[in-house]
Amino acid sequence: MIFLMDLQMMLLDVIYFILRNSVRIVLRPRTKPIDGELVLITGSGGGLGRLFAQEFTKHGAEVVLWDVNSSCNEATAKLVREMGGKAYTYTVDVTNREDVYRNADLVRKDLGRDVTILVNNAGVVAGARMLDCPDELMERTMKVNCHAHFWTVKAFLPQMKAQNHGHIVTIASILGLFSTACVEDYCASKFAAVGFHESLAHELIADEVEGVKTTLVCPYIVDTGMFEGCKIREEVELLLPPLEPQYCVEQAMNAILINQPLVCIPRLTYLPFLSRALLPWESNVVAYRFMGSDKCMYPFIDNKKQVSNNPVKVE
Ligand SMILES: NC(=O)c1ccc[n+]([C@@H]2O[C@H](COP(=O)([O-])OP(=O)(O)OC[C@H]3O[C@@H](n4cnc5c(N)ncnc54)[C@H](O)[C@@H]3O)[C@@H](O)[C@H]2O)c1
Ligand SMILES: *[C@@H]1O[C@H](CO)[C@@H](O)[C@H](O)[C@H]1NC(C)=O
Repeated sequence: MIFLMDLQMMLLDVIYFILRNSVRIVLRPRTKPIDGELVLITGSGGGLGRLFAQEFTKHGAEVVLWDVNSSCNEATAKLVREMGGKAYTYTVDVTNREDVYRNADLVRKDLGRDVTILVNNAGVVAGARMLDCPDELMERTMKVNCHAHFWTVKAFLPQMKAQNHGHIVTIASILGLFSTACVEDYCASKFAAVGFHESLAHELIADEVEGVKTTLVCPYIVDTGMFEGCKIREEVELLLPPLEPQYCVEQAMNAILINQPLVCIPRLTYLPFLSRALLPWESNVVAYRFMGSDKCMYPFIDNKKQVSNNPVKVE
């Protein structure tokens, strides 16, 4: 009897959330205020990281900027300060556990307060065919795009849990939800980041840590230079052009500010995600071929080869 009542309740809840989320596409819920929050962004010297720093600043938050590249990172801090915001820079290699823990302590000591929003944004791609790719480069992709999330979350989640207040944001990719040819390292790392993020999100809910929110951001190709050269069929590209970095970050911010658990940018990319799950493998293969997304990474790989002047260098 109790089982049947639970079943009925569950089904009603399932329907309620489907309806609520459908309504939310049109009627956006109120965004949460984040003025005074302390936001840590990794990879803040780069395309999206820098824009996130500026967007969070616009909303009145203070930003802690972590990047391996100190000159790029300082440039971001300068932009934030010109906007009248507060930025604190740290040169951190997020793949290095000790470096992450040490700097997390340093942030706490320097600022005398805890990070309340963590944006795991740093990311790399090998950009070479797997069989031509140095092992270290493939390993680096896993370490930056996945392992680093372990270390940063371990460093900052305990205080968020203690105060029952915080937000963990993972910048993954649509290539963490479905894949294509010639980005094996990247897809492996992004699928891993998605798995890590979702398991963590489930853990926080199961443990009833209601104050710590999570948002998984999965963007399509963004025009930051990371996937320079990547190309799908022209007619389809009209429908699905590379994202403007600013647009991508604004969409991600909207999702974060309403505590949305998952956002794919643009919305059209939910379609291949669904079709991957629902249709036979071969159906997806022919659809990829039609859209030119089967070989979309070929020109990107060629482009990388020229830039790094083959064979690929390890940093
Ligand atoms: N550009 C795209 O097409 C695209 C699409 C989907 C998802 N993403 C994801 O968005 C995120 C940001 O991408 P982007 O396009 O701004 O890249 P980017 O290359 O412009 O910036 C990445 C930044 O991360 C930093 N970084 C790299 N390794 C690091 C390390 N070990 N420790 C600390 N910092 C490190 C770099 O110095 C750089 O400043 C990445 O996770 C990327 O995978 C990008
Ligand atoms: C930092 O990034 C800039 C611009 O991309 C580059 O010229 C410079 O060599 C990088 N520095 C390091 C230490 O990687």
